[in-house]
Amino acid sequence: MQDIIHRLEEMREQAKAGGGEKRVAAQHAKGKLSARERIDLLLDPGSFEEWDMFVEHRSTDFGMAEQKVRGDGVVTGWGTVNGRLVFVFSQDFTVFGGSLSEAHAEKICKVMDQAMKVGAPVIGLNDSGGARIQEGVASLGGYAEVFQRNVMASGVVPQISMIMGPCAGGAVYSPAMTDFIFMVKDSSYMFVTGPDVVKTVTHETVTHEELGGAVTHTTKSGVADLAFDNDVEAILNLRRFIDFLPSSNREQPPVRPTADEADRPEYSLDTLVPANPNKPYDMKELIAKVVDEGDFFEIQPAYAGNIITGFARMQGSTVGIVANQPMVLAGCLDIESAKKAARFVRFCDCFNIPIVTFVDVPGFLPGTAQEFGGIIKHGAKLLFAYAEATVPKVTVITRKAYGGAYDVMSSKHLRGDVNYAWPTAEIAVMGPKGAVEIIFRGDLGDETKIEARTEEYRERFANPFVAASRGYLDDIIRPHNTRRRICRALAMLRDKQLSNPWKKHDNIPL
Ligand code: HXC
Repeated sequence: MQDIIHRLEEMREQAKAGGGEKRVAAQHAKGKLSARERIDLLLDPGSFEEWDMFVEHRSTDFGMAEQKVRGDGVVTGWGTVNGRLVFVFSQDFTVFGGSLSEAHAEKICKVMDQAMKVGAPVIGLNDSGGARIQEGVASLGGYAEVFQRNVMASGVVPQISMIMGPCAGGAVYSPAMTDFIFMVKDSSYMFVTGPDVVKTVTHETVTHEELGGAVTHTTKSGVADLAFDNDVEAILNLRRFIDFLPSSNREQPPVRPTADEADRPEYSLDTLVPANPNKPYDMKELIAKVVDEGDFFEIQPAYAGNIITGFARMQGSTVGIVANQPMVLAGCLDIESAKKAARFVRFCDCFNIPIVTFVDVPGFLPGTAQEFGGIIKHGAKLLFAYAEATVPKVTVITRKAYGGAYDVMSSKHLRGDVNYAWPTAEIAVMGPKGAVEIIFRGDLGDETKIEARTEEYRERFANPFVAASRGYLDDIIRPHNTRRRICRALAMLRDKQLSNPWKKHDNIPL
């Protein structure tokens, strides 16, 4: 007995040592934490229960039979974040470069399977050289096992990928199928083919960072949601992020006590919208002033800035916020913003998170780039996402709601539950000037006439009354009451029940 306990302790120590002091020091020298240090920082102190620390790979080729490290390059298990259960795997770059063997994949699959059974998020801390080259196809099989579980878990438990080192080749497709991808600047990258292959095939010269670094993916490609300066900042923000999420699709969003009164008026909002309809204002100011304690966790802040997406709380409960941003492209919808918001709306709908939408949208962005890029299909994604969503939907139109974009942005017609407008709202097929130039084309050239017609059109449609008279708006509210009215609407909607017709799954335009 004593012998076995002694051996057990020894084996644990070996597993904890990973690839050894030298490699851990090399990891630190790159400014990266080790796999275990990352888990320690992520989970509540003392809450981590490690699984499979004695697992070893089974390959024998290329001298691998003599090279075994307990745990095989990934630390897995479960623990809590602020008291709430999460499952985690953390790839250990110090062991075979964190590369994925058959056994390594089995460990990841085990935590994913268990997370689905008990209903808790899966957090992947990725730091891996990809497929374990010595294992060949067994490693590819391992990846596919993980991919299959990513798909099965999608919409069942939240899946979050934190990229903290290399992630290349087919390995990128596991994070790609998770709900959120966060990256660390300078130390992480993701690409399907690296700079060398790019150089050979397309003759482009590009660095790892330019091709697939955190800045590239959070500003250009939109593959990643957030970029952080270092491991510590990344993991602390991940903890904050998890607090917003329900643990599974069977749970309601978590509630956190707040001292922020639900009926807090915010008089500065009465003057937020400028008198000149062409002048922008910052929609983020509205969000910060309306949500609990101004606490807004923005998703994809550096990508498609014409739409804002993120999580906040109202009366302590998580809500998803979607808002047009007049400061960027006048808040137009375009390909990137439609895709960004559609995916966000669908995440909220999967996980019972009510959606609050703030609308100031002059329409879809015109141009050949948009049409050739498929704005028809991409714009339809957001329309589809809102229309299929059955979670509570509360909408506030602050200013423009023009054309098809009016319909798209959580309108009454797409089963919006509560639709409000500020007195400054303008709801019409298009802006007064454009409208007059079409319907009174004969008057073009006669400035006085055109001006009079424009004024007439503005009088008729550049207000919320026509929409309200048809019941498309439930009420016209004073801006300073926005928080109170949204909180009350959400409270009324707490037990909302709505389901879509039975289907195997829908066919959202991809
Ligand atoms: C086995 C690997 C490995 C791998 C790294 N190592 N990648 N071992 N399989 N894929 C080992 C190295 O031999 C080395 O071992 C240690 O990890 C650290 O690697 P270094 O090269 O010294 O580190 P660094 O200079 O930081 O470079 C990291 C790297 C590089 C850029 C990731 O190692 C690399 O290019 N690796 C190969 C990447 C790759 O081609 N993977 C397959 C991609 S295809 P020692 O003992 O010296 O410390 C793929 C397909 C997935 O993944 C398909 C899914 C469908």
